[in-house]
Amino acid sequence: MKKRVLSGIRATGRLHLGNYLGAVKGMLELQDNPEYETFYMVADVHTITTPYNIEDLRKNRREVIIDYLSLGLDPEKSTIFQQSEVPEHIELAFYFSSVVTIAKMQHLPTFKEKVKQYPHNSTMALLNYPILMAADILIYKAELVPVGIDQEPHLEVAREIARRFNQDFSTDFPQPQRFKTEGEYIPSLTGEGKMSKSVEGSYINLTDSLETIRKKIRAVPTSSTSGGEKTEGVKTLFTLLALFSPKSHEDFERKYEKGNLQYLELKDFISEIIFRELEPIQKKRKELEPNKEYIDSVIKEGNEKAREAARETVREVKDKMGL
Ligand code: TRP
Repeated sequence: MKKRVLSGIRATGRLHLGNYLGAVKGMLELQDNPEYETFYMVADVHTITTPYNIEDLRKNRREVIIDYLSLGLDPEKSTIFQQSEVPEHIELAFYFSSVVTIAKMQHLPTFKEKVKQYPHNSTMALLNYPILMAADILIYKAELVPVGIDQEPHLEVAREIARRFNQDFSTDFPQPQRFKTEGEYIPSLTGEGKMSKSVEGSYINLTDSLETIRKKIRAVPTSSTSGGEKTEGVKTLFTLLALFSPKSHEDFERKYEKGNLQYLELKDFISEIIFRELEPIQKKRKELEPNKEYIDSVIKEGNEKAREAARETVREVKDKMGL
């Protein structure tokens, strides 16, 4: 039997560079490895755990799938689906919640952060976020999860639930591990924190033109000197450089050490190499977009395939729990 992989991205908008480098690159690598069976979803149910706009969600739960396809996820190799179309995830999450304490969930750093961000929306759905994520993964008995490093606390919860369930109900859930990518942490363009959809000016969209990318990269705060300890903004530039052009990284590093680095030259070089990687993705999206029937059929088939696999696990769990 092939080992399984699951990953997902919330439907909060079109994907950005951080999603691509932190998650999708790992998804692609595993999709192309014949040792794995890959399940990739848009986490539309997770999107409702924080305040959202209905029309945006309706649009984005489809847009993310089109982004996936443009980035190279292949329905011939991967099961590409929408979380809410496999309601067994929610059912399993409820069964899982019977072995998780409220205190444990309240103390997760990811929960605390969201509560700080939305102080009037500290809901049960938000508290249950990690349990639903554990169900997403374990319903396919997935062993590998390509996601960014910020998701590690959620994976730990999934492993704990798996252990508890195996002990109490004799199930055979694996201990899912994070599949790391080189770009597992993409810093924000503001020089503070990570690249994130919820922070304006922090991210590059996959659809950005060269001109837009140049404008955003030029706005990264740098320094009036070069050499010595790097400021956060300068570190961000070097991180991007290392990811997109490891060869040039050394050259610029040397210039930096010598104290004769021209930041504008470095910034425009980075903008150029990022755009060069995004250009074919943008072209593919333009070709795909008008092909509504094809997209619909990919989604429909993916949803059905995922559901079939999910049903099997839920049937087993119910039986073992005495239901
Ligand atoms: N929590 C993830 C994020 O914010 C999204 C997600 C939901 C996910 N379910 C998942 C990721 C299952 C991996 C596996 O990025």
